[in-house]
Amino acid sequence: MASNAGQSTISLETIVSLAKRRGFVFQSSEIYGGLNGCWDYGPLGVELLRNIKDAWWRAMTYRDDVEGIDAAILMHPRVWEASGHVQNFSDPLIDNKTSKSRHRADHLIEGEIEKLRKKGRTEKAAELEAKLAAATDPSQLYQLIIEHEIKDPVSGTMDWTEVRHFNLMFKTFIGPLEDTSAVVYLRPETAQGIFVNFDNVRQSTRQKIPFGIAQIGKSFRNEINTKYFLFRTREFEQMEMQFFVKPGEDDKWYDYWLGERWRWFQDLGMTMERLRTKPHDKLAHYAKAAVDIEYEFPFGWGEIEGIHNRTDFDLSRHSEYSGKKLEYYDDQTKERFVPYVIETAVGASRSTMAFLVDAYREEEVNGEKRAVMRFHPRLAPYKLAVLPLVNKDGMPEFATRIYHDLQRHFKTFYDDSGAVGRRYRRQDEVGTPFCTTVDGQTLEDGTVTVRERDSMEQVRIPADALRTYVAERVGL
Ligand code: GLY
Repeated sequence: MASNAGQSTISLETIVSLAKRRGFVFQSSEIYGGLNGCWDYGPLGVELLRNIKDAWWRAMTYRDDVEGIDAAILMHPRVWEASGHVQNFSDPLIDNKTSKSRHRADHLIEGEIEKLRKKGRTEKAAELEAKLAAATDPSQLYQLIIEHEIKDPVSGTMDWTEVRHFNLMFKTFIGPLEDTSAVVYLRPETAQGIFVNFDNVRQSTRQKIPFGIAQIGKSFRNEINTKYFLFRTREFEQMEMQFFVKPGEDDKWYDYWLGERWRWFQDLGMTMERLRTKPHDKLAHYAKAAVDIEYEFPFGWGEIEGIHNRTDFDLSRHSEYSGKKLEYYDDQTKERFVPYVIETAVGASRSTMAFLVDAYREEEVNGEKRAVMRFHPRLAPYKLAVLPLVNKDGMPEFATRIYHDLQRHFKTFYDDSGAVGRRYRRQDEVGTPFCTTVDGQTLEDGTVTVRERDSMEQVRIPADALRTYVAERVGL
């Protein structure tokens, strides 16, 4: 019998190692020693990522009131002045002069709060947390580090520099001249590509408010410290949707989208006890309300999605900076207004990591250990593996025919090497929901066995029925 052990004790190293070994995720430029904060998706990882993006795209845009776009990564530099990123998109940086290590000052303080909590000094922890929330400039963060004698985790000293702001946008240049008039940024969020296209989309689709615009794309942030595998990286992929509403109806739509996004994770089989919502203590410069959906990773709770009420900040600012009015005229009520925006912003990379962690189980089966990825079948990289029981008696020929036929409909894998039990285990470890075996009986009556990953139960069905059998159960 299978027992479900180990999920709560899973370490990040287990996931990183499996991800590399089975071709989900590799370190970027690994043969050159790697590039910090960048990762490459391997053959199975890219399938998982694409399936996650596809599930999001279907849920968010295959409906009447949301349109999709795909905007350029490079945008006019004034976009980032209007959005507030040139002025505000920075993190507080502090260096230790002895170890030369570099930290985010707020993260150092959060680490201290965590330590105090672990020691049971909850009052002191709450006091420091309140001071951190109230700190508005770098000198206040510096004071807190000194007052609380927070030491560098590397050198153990308090040999700190001042705290200073560091803008997280990557800068580059358009054209051959590297002068200030040629500066452009790699976008730090996909949202602005949506705002600047608000009127184009509204006019071309004749959408009426409330309606949304969604896009999936790469974003870049020059993080001071990257950490936890795919969690904090310098290049990542976002899935964002901006929903434009009438002012006054924004609270209702904020609640609606939080509910929708919560259900999306549930529908894809996420362990709901490992998800929570957390309202922001400190609001970004554009927000009236904000809540994170957090997942409990092996390192603790971490944000995977943010739902924000961005008010009319973005459209007003782009009107001001571009000189083009971004308003909406309601021809029923004869009102003219700047729409409010409810944003749902989920990391494709972070959710890939959450789905990887969430799927992993170590189980005991008949005295042996099996590692199994219990992906929702829609997310699983391969939907079916085709296995000839032995490599003779016409079985490989029959199995190859099935494989070539089904590969045209969904991602299928062919494996004829080693004992069949070992082959099942290899598929369990990458989360393939079904394995079909061609055996002696197949050659007599055209039936095959189908083994289901989680229950490990087998049924025998006609080989001709395989395509429908798998497609129905995967939800294709
Ligand atoms: N657009 C919001 C975010 O990047 O989180």
